[in-house]
Amino acid sequence: MHIPVLLKESIKSLNIKKNGIYIDATFGSGGHSKEILKKIGKNGTLYAIDRDPESIKIAKNIKDSRFHIIQGLFSNIFKYCKKFKILKKINGIIVDLGMSSIQLNNKKRGFSFKKNGPLDMRMNQKEGISASQWLINSNQQKISHILKKYGEERYAKQIAYNIVKNNKKNPIINTYQLSKIILHSTPYQKKNSSRRSFQAIRIYLNNELNELKKFLNNIINILAPNGKLCIISFHSLEDRIVKQFMFKNSRKIPNLPISIPLTEKELIKINIKKNILKIYKKIFPSKKEILYNSRSRSAILRIAKLKK
Ligand SMILES: C[S@@+](CC[C@H](N)C(=O)[O-])C[C@H]1O[C@@H](n2cnc3c(N)ncnc32)[C@H](O)[C@@H]1O
Repeated sequence: MHIPVLLKESIKSLNIKKNGIYIDATFGSGGHSKEILKKIGKNGTLYAIDRDPESIKIAKNIKDSRFHIIQGLFSNIFKYCKKFKILKKINGIIVDLGMSSIQLNNKKRGFSFKKNGPLDMRMNQKEGISASQWLINSNQQKISHILKKYGEERYAKQIAYNIVKNNKKNPIINTYQLSKIILHSTPYQKKNSSRRSFQAIRIYLNNELNELKKFLNNIINILAPNGKLCIISFHSLEDRIVKQFMFKNSRKIPNLPISIPLTEKELIKINIKKNILKIYKKIFPSKKEILYNSRSRSAILRIAKLKK
């Protein structure tokens, strides 16, 4: 079972209206969606998105005429809103980034270094290549770059060297093979020394940070006035992107090239015409939630509202 993170806090911050239109951009196993369905009235609507066919199977069990599930990428949110004729009508969007426990706990998916299984790591196994295939196809430099960039792994070079060396003799096809190599390449000697490298490969293969950036680029054009955006992130790479997006769009004075000569009055005029975000205080899980669900320990909920 997947235990939804910051459930009460995120639903409260959506400020749900009975007749509103909401989007859960990361359905997972539906923890947040089910809560939204409880709060909207009979004329409310909830659209949910997930890229993982396993999540779509779960969603299809929800028999509720107010609920619509979309299999696809949340970076396509503008396209979906256009298709359903709900552009600029969305009263709230929730995004709960990362993996769900149904992905992590299924050893056949290859996300967990704690369970032995095929080294896959794709959120949709019908798209792209598996982690194993990627490691076989890539050179040391490329692997090292990814481990550093998305895992902030100090021993990226050494790990990449040993991955390539091993792949030449005996291709790495399962998770335990990879974590053994990582363990031998680093001085950590801890059970979770593979965490950073597994995270890096997963983020890269699923194009997670670009997905988030593309998604955010559409937000201003799909939210209704006063519409809320609630994003739960789990590591600093994601959170930095969310934070920068919110700050950039909440600035009083827009970013303009220095060469454009405008007076302060003119700048304020532009600002009045601009749809900008109001940012709320970020929320962390309580000690109680972390004790109950250790997966929540690194979560941060950021909230913004599109001003009228
Ligand atoms: C942390 S889980 C969401 C859990 C959900 N809130 C719940 O309570 O059950 C994240 C989900 O987002 C999906 N996901 C991740 N990136 C995505 C993307 N770019 N487009 C669509 N779905 C994505 C994953 O497949 C996963 O099911």
